Amino acid sequence: QKRGPRSNLKFTPIRPVDALVDDFTVPKGFTWQPIIRWGDPLFRESPVFDVFNQSEAAQQLQFGYNCDYTDILDLPGSKGRRAVMFVNHEYTNEPIMVPPGLPAAEVRGIGRAAHGLTVVELERHNASKAWKYVQGAPLNRRFLLDTPYELTGPAAGSDLVKTIDDPAGRTILGTLGNCAGGTTPWGTILSGEENFNGYFVSPGTSASDRRYGLTASPTARGWEVDQPRLDTRNKGYQNEANRFGYIVEVDPFDRTSTPKKHSMLGRFKHEGANVIVAGDGRVVAYSGDDERFDYLYKFVSRNRMDTAGTPAARRKNMTLLSEGSLYVARFQGNSAPEIDGSGTVPTDGAFDGVGEWLPLIVNNKSAVPGMSAAEVAVYTRLAADKVGPTKMDRAEDVEPNPLTGKVYVACTNNTNRGVGANSPADESNPRTANRSGHVVEITENGGDQTSARFTWNLLMVCGDPANDPTVYFSGFPAQKVSPISCPDNLAFDSVGNLWISTDGQPGTIGYCDGLFQVTLEGEERGKVEQFLAVPRDSETCGPIIRDKERHVFVAVQHPGENGVWGNQTSLFPDYVTAGSKPRRGDAAVPRPSVVQVLPGNDKRP
Ligand code: FEO
Ligand code: CA
Ligand code: CA
Ligand code: CA
Repeated sequence: QKRGPRSNLKFTPIRPVDALVDDFTVPKGFTWQPIIRWGDPLFRESPVFDVFNQSEAAQQLQFGYNCDYTDILDLPGSKGRRAVMFVNHEYTNEPIMVPPGLPAAEVRGIGRAAHGLTVVELERHNASKAWKYVQGAPLNRRFLLDTPYELTGPAAGSDLVKTIDDPAGRTILGTLGNCAGGTTPWGTILSGEENFNGYFVSPGTSASDRRYGLTASPTARGWEVDQPRLDTRNKGYQNEANRFGYIVEVDPFDRTSTPKKHSMLGRFKHEGANVIVAGDGRVVAYSGDDERFDYLYKFVSRNRMDTAGTPAARRKNMTLLSEGSLYVARFQGNSAPEIDGSGTVPTDGAFDGVGEWLPLIVNNKSAVPGMSAAEVAVYTRLAADKVGPTKMDRAEDVEPNPLTGKVYVACTNNTNRGVGANSPADESNPRTANRSGHVVEITENGGDQTSARFTWNLLMVCGDPANDPTVYFSGFPAQKVSPISCPDNLAFDSVGNLWISTDGQPGTIGYCDGLFQVTLEGEERGKVEQFLAVPRDSETCGPIIRDKERHVFVAVQHPGENGVWGNQTSLFPDYVTAGSKPRRGDAAVPRPSVVQVLPGNDKRP
């Protein structure tokens, strides 16, 4: 096989963009525009965004901050002209969101209301036009800190999750730290609760508090002042932090639906989760724990997906993630790894080997001696520690290629790898003080996603080939790739190319973060081509590749996050003033936004 498949989305790669450039850069022949920005009004009664007059009440009715996972699902029968978009809001940057001098309580309220999730309808006149969001559309919805979630799986109803507000242990208010996600084959959205520990004050003394990074220090945002449940030292709330750190499932097509938190997929700093249907009809979800030296997990459902396509089948499929088995990955290399950072490829020419999925829960029952299934579901990191999985370099997005079933794991970086007493490099995490990260490719044995064993190799070891001799691109000549560092989110186009968005390039290779196409098949396997770059101090999130329409979507998260009020480092996406000093009447602040890239003249809108 000479060349891999080509999609309809042909482009000339952009040159890497210096980290200080505050612009959104697309290839020649393309243009871009925001679909929705932080603060945009969602409902008929929503006030227009006014940064000098922002309030908690206004923010509750507007698009939230720091958009991360994004997907767009066509509304049935709309002939491609109407869709529903899901977006989560990972965290807030209050110092560049609100003018100085606002009462602290109001700032806390605005911050809370800018977290959570958004569902919003989109429309366009025809498939070649850009999407616009529809204010006041029937499916528009904000999920806030008081939105109830149904807890499912082994933790539901257990003593580990009961609180004075929820003595049944089945209903949780709010979701926190939502990062990446995935869309299920039955048309719901999964979203990962990642850095939830940052919202809690805890005793910080128990094994689980320590393992999950829960401490007695006041939180950065101080919400515990208004919400006693966020301080687990308060009577009746000892278990509140056990109610966060799950995969959330949302039905964007039903505005009245109760979202779920699925404890069967374990509790950790979920980057996200992605589902693929196995050959026998069971569904398999992969999820990474984004912490240095933490693990990679796989869930296999007990029941099979119902493909009848009826509303009843869909409701049934929405219970698939509540029952089944949970595994954690162990990787084994097959040759001497490169551990000295000299750039030497392993003795057999590849970073590769075999691996196994170690059981934590099998058919709803604990497989870990001394722990119940509920304990495994809530203290998943402690359970996994007992079975000896491989400590990874921060597994972010984990995504199966829908065309091949091969699973890709973005290990974003781990500067502590092999430093001091920390775990040394191994063949699957081969670089000491790994600044730029790498991407693992997993092939389940026999092509069976439910298999207990797999083979693996590294698709790439990232970095700037111009000055980093340790990079590796599956044998593709390093001098011919776009420099890439800190892989975070993954997506696939319709012909099976991998797309990677990055988070952290400014600090490692000095370029703005971006979105990259990676060829997986044929003689150009390992070729990396940069499609876009995001503005100063932002990361690229939530990529959607609609290559048949030549449309690409990304969420631009935390633009200008290193600025301060009055001296913003980004004015994305409006760029309304030449200066950077906010003025009344301007929206002269950076606004995290979902952006559409489409064919057109490459100029600022
Ligand atoms: Fe929120 Fe792991 O990135
Ligand atoms: Ca992420
Ligand atoms: Ca090898
Ligand atoms: Ca990240």
